[in-house]
Amino acid sequence: KNRRVLMKELRLGNAGLGTVAQGVLDIVSANREIIRSRSGVELSPVRVASRSPKSDIDLLGAEFSTDLESLLAPDIDVLVELIGGESTAKDLITQALDQGIPVVTANKAVIARFGNELLSGEQRAPLKFEAAVAGAIPIIQAIQHALVANRFEQVIGIINGTCNYILTAMQAQGKAFDDALAEAQRLGYAEADPSFDIDGVDAAHKLTILAGLAFDTKFDFEALYVEGISGVTAADIAYADELGYRIKHVGIAKATDLGVEARVHPVLMPKTTLLANVDDVANAVVVKCDGAGQTLFSGPGAGGLATASAVLGDVVRLATVTSNSEGDRPAKTGDYVPISDVICANYIRIPVRDEPGVFAQIANAMSECGISIEAAIQKEPDMVGKIVDIVIVTHAVVESVMKKALAVVEGLEAGEGTISRIRVEPLH
Ligand code: HSE
Repeated sequence: KNRRVLMKELRLGNAGLGTVAQGVLDIVSANREIIRSRSGVELSPVRVASRSPKSDIDLLGAEFSTDLESLLAPDIDVLVELIGGESTAKDLITQALDQGIPVVTANKAVIARFGNELLSGEQRAPLKFEAAVAGAIPIIQAIQHALVANRFEQVIGIINGTCNYILTAMQAQGKAFDDALAEAQRLGYAEADPSFDIDGVDAAHKLTILAGLAFDTKFDFEALYVEGISGVTAADIAYADELGYRIKHVGIAKATDLGVEARVHPVLMPKTTLLANVDDVANAVVVKCDGAGQTLFSGPGAGGLATASAVLGDVVRLATVTSNSEGDRPAKTGDYVPISDVICANYIRIPVRDEPGVFAQIANAMSECGISIEAAIQKEPDMVGKIVDIVIVTHAVVESVMKKALAVVEGLEAGEGTISRIRVEPLH
């Protein structure tokens, strides 16, 4: 294989012309000098390829082609893959690595799904993907390098900006879900298919990567438990507030007595915690490990310039690395603790007709399953349908037992409408 020895001039072949790709060109244009004086690396975009040309972008003298394979050329030192999607991007990355061309990508789906094979083989050219997780935040470098001497206990993060934007707008401005989503799309934060954001798929791609790196397992996307935010209502946000919590969408990977848990879902977290106060499109990841203790990384998790910053950090780093120095990906599968065995406290909102004895029936259902109630709220019924929300917060309970109790509550004769259930993370 004709692996290339990297010179201090890095000739870039950029795939894509979307927001992040434009951000890369903008930062190179604005900060080329400072990057050179700081790192000794001269960044030269020499080729740009995109299937959809855009005439209004300054390519900084790079040659343009609609043929992505034009980037697999001898005058390219680093291929920067920013086209998104899965199969075309994966093929392009594979071809580049096989030809000895190092690759930097922001493509979380490709790393989460195909990273094990793409990152294997000491002889292959290196592949870097800091921008794939939490945009500008250097969380991959932190886990792989700065914190490498630690045993990780827990990684928990707000890793989808669109979900965070929507939940914050619903909480702080009382915005409707659809309006908040439209705004996130307008600002360029949402995925091409925003259901990837809303349904938790994007966060799951990112958590797959974080869990694999922190707990030395394969990237095992299929093994994660995933829920999105479409079930979270304005009423839940208001009740959570009253109980002292914020609702956030998070990815959690943690070591427990039963093994490693890896799950993506909304949670109630105490308002006083750092993560609960990470708002709007911001991302944040809290890492707990044995030596360093608890560290918090927070910043923009999406957007062109912010993500481009992480891309270019990787590019400059490549000037000092010429082979896949991280070695092979571990062979161990994710094999995470099944969700039915996960232990969590729960927030439950049960809309019921306001009739005598209903609260007692719910309390009985919990108590028969051995579930202890930590807090409860019941408000005046609405004037029209005499419907009332009964809201309870349980102590920690095994998921399978919680499910049993919820099935009983769902069968209540006085039940009126959909029950909300959101896990509670105490974050200590
Ligand atoms: N759609 C993603 C988000 C973009 O909202 O966080 C960054 O991956």
